[in-house]
Amino acid sequence: HCVGIIGAPFSKGQKALCASPGCVVKDYGNLTFEDVPNDEPVGRLKTPRAVGRASELLAGAVQEVKSHGNTCVMLGGDHSLAIGSISGHAASRHELSVLWVDAHADINTPSSTPTGNIHGQPLSYLIHELHSEIPIIPNFSWLKPCVAAKDVVYIGLRDVDPGEHYTLKYLGIKAFSMTEVDRLGIAKVMEQTCDHMFSKVKKPIHLSFDIDALDPSVSPATGTPVAGGLTYREGIYITEHICQTGLLSAVDMVEVNPKQGKTEDEIKSTVNAAVDLLLGCFGRVREGSHDPDYKMP
Ligand code: ARG
Ligand code: MN
Ligand code: MN
Ligand code: MN
Repeated sequence: HCVGIIGAPFSKGQKALCASPGCVVKDYGNLTFEDVPNDEPVGRLKTPRAVGRASELLAGAVQEVKSHGNTCVMLGGDHSLAIGSISGHAASRHELSVLWVDAHADINTPSSTPTGNIHGQPLSYLIHELHSEIPIIPNFSWLKPCVAAKDVVYIGLRDVDPGEHYTLKYLGIKAFSMTEVDRLGIAKVMEQTCDHMFSKVKKPIHLSFDIDALDPSVSPATGTPVAGGLTYREGIYITEHICQTGLLSAVDMVEVNPKQGKTEDEIKSTVNAAVDLLLGCFGRVREGSHDPDYKMP
């Protein structure tokens, strides 16, 4: 089992890792994103050409990792990158389940966005049912919607815009807000998440993890923190549970932004949480583990 890592230091839409015995890591390096000159807003969308270009580049890189049969890890960068990451993943696997762990729904359309930031919109570009909401945008002509609304599950929501709430209800998207996490507990939430994702065929899972899903006391170094988030342990439980399905095919770890940390400790805490979540994705278990040929010293 091999994990391929792509670094995507991109922030215009707003590492050593080995978890379990026998897990191999291949570093695919960092992508470089060139500045796009004269990237004027299109409607309300900010820096659309740069986002379109970066996402296209990332889609190619993810497709490459998947073509080698590896599990793909994309280290962001902001959440607009999920447009590229999920597109590239879908191009090699076609039917995916998407688990979106986030304080935000990131499903504004170019007309419903209150900010114009594309990191608040990626799912509207990716979901088939929202295709008619997406206008022609420069550098986005490569993009085709690739996920069905029924194949998306959210965990951690607590800051959802009115247009987003309408879309979630209208399309019947499965969502566990922080209220459901409080009511059911994270174990039930994960059970029901998997029941929903596996109700018909077992599709490969794309986990898109926005670090702002966690409480800002754990991960403050992020651009749009929201109080009342997942605990460190709830976050780890999600990744351990997804690892155990054996279906994890790609992970985005996004919105980790050292520049937003006010102190060295804030940055450390945020980065450590992101690393531990990834280790949970790839087989680190809290009960501990040992190689089959382990000998007592
Ligand atoms: N809902 C707000 C917006 O659309 C905030 C989105 C925050 N998204 C994120 N990936 N941090 O602008
Ligand atoms: Mn190749
Ligand atoms: Mn978010
Ligand atoms: Mn997000």
